Amino acid sequence: MGENGDNGKGTVCVTGGTGFLASWLIMKLLEDGYSVNTTVRSLAIDLSYLTRLPGASERLRVFEADLGRPESFQAAVEKCVGVFHVAHPMDFGEGSEEIEEAKIECAVNGTLGVLRAAVGSKTVKRVVVTSSRLAVVFNGDGGSAVVDERSWTDVGFVKESKPFGASYVISKTLAEKAALEFGEKYEVDVVTVITSWIHGPFLSPQFPETLRPAMSMVLGGDQANVMKYPSLTPFVHVDDAASAHIFLMEHRNAKGRYICSSLGITPQDLHKFLSTRYPQYHLPYSYSLEDMGGYFKHPILSSKKLLDMGFKFKYGLEEMFDGAIESCRRVGLL
Ligand SMILES: NC(=O)c1ccc[n+]([C@@H]2O[C@H](COP(=O)([O-])OP(=O)(O)OC[C@H]3O[C@@H](n4cnc5c(N)ncnc54)[C@H](OP(=O)(O)O)[C@@H]3O)[C@@H](O)[C@H]2O)c1
Repeated sequence: MGENGDNGKGTVCVTGGTGFLASWLIMKLLEDGYSVNTTVRSLAIDLSYLTRLPGASERLRVFEADLGRPESFQAAVEKCVGVFHVAHPMDFGEGSEEIEEAKIECAVNGTLGVLRAAVGSKTVKRVVVTSSRLAVVFNGDGGSAVVDERSWTDVGFVKESKPFGASYVISKTLAEKAALEFGEKYEVDVVTVITSWIHGPFLSPQFPETLRPAMSMVLGGDQANVMKYPSLTPFVHVDDAASAHIFLMEHRNAKGRYICSSLGITPQDLHKFLSTRYPQYHLPYSYSLEDMGGYFKHPILSSKKLLDMGFKFKYGLEEMFDGAIESCRRVGLL
């Protein structure tokens, strides 16, 4: 047993602890016996959904840090054995197609700040960085049916074609690239987790906005959101995504990029699935589903590299939507 009752697992840092994925990851790390330092942008908010997690009173410490101040992560990373860099500016600016250089710079410089803090600590062995399918799929190669970790989003193509949330797409791509390049130059292992659309239950009292498009058929609301479904939406359960992060932190041979996506479904099939499983909810927009197919021809994301390392996905679509609906009921949205 370690000093803090951490089963000798040591302390890890999770950036952006308030978030949908990071809060779930913190819960799992505490369950696994780690001590956790997490960063939030402001301590002046209600963090009780984190501080009341089992094990948190003894093994969770919360620090203030902001990607806009890259040096602010030092205190949280000090004495850690590993860092999960999850925080990222998530503001899509109403899906603005304008390229917002400041947001991109903040994401890239903030990521480098976290990595510099890791090197400076002299204790961190590995940094696991959360990336996104969006760093893989936009390259103008509409023809690939299946893509793997060799595929990179082409930033020039995104600047030209300006898809929905173009700045976010660019910031995820450049932050992941910068992290991997940093890892090659300095004495720290950098592993990236390219997650597809994360879905499932959430811990926070607020509804995570990243869930809105996937939940819009159930919750109703703005049709524009529903229309943003790609032709084949790739999903992963939040618990599987968090487990993959921990698996890649702990696996001795983990190296480079890992796609983490358990399934893909068309909007039409998703609508069929939801109407059959949850007949009690009025599922809007069925009349226009035929029009959705062509929004973006999304390739299948291959998680073969992760699965070949021995990782197993545990959850299907049923658990993703059951969990998200249950959480929506908890916060009074359903
Ligand atoms: N959700 C998905 O479907 C999905 C898919 C692929 C990849 N990802 C990636 O997964 C990670 C977590 O996403 P999520 O879905 O959990 O989103 P989320 O709930 O919005 O969490 C994002 C976190 O980043 C923090 N953050 C934003 N700007 C920051 C800044 N300038 N400085 C410090 N922290 C900042 C947020 O803090 P505040 O609470 O203060 O805003 C929040 O804690 C991100 O890296 C995202 O790109 C998500």
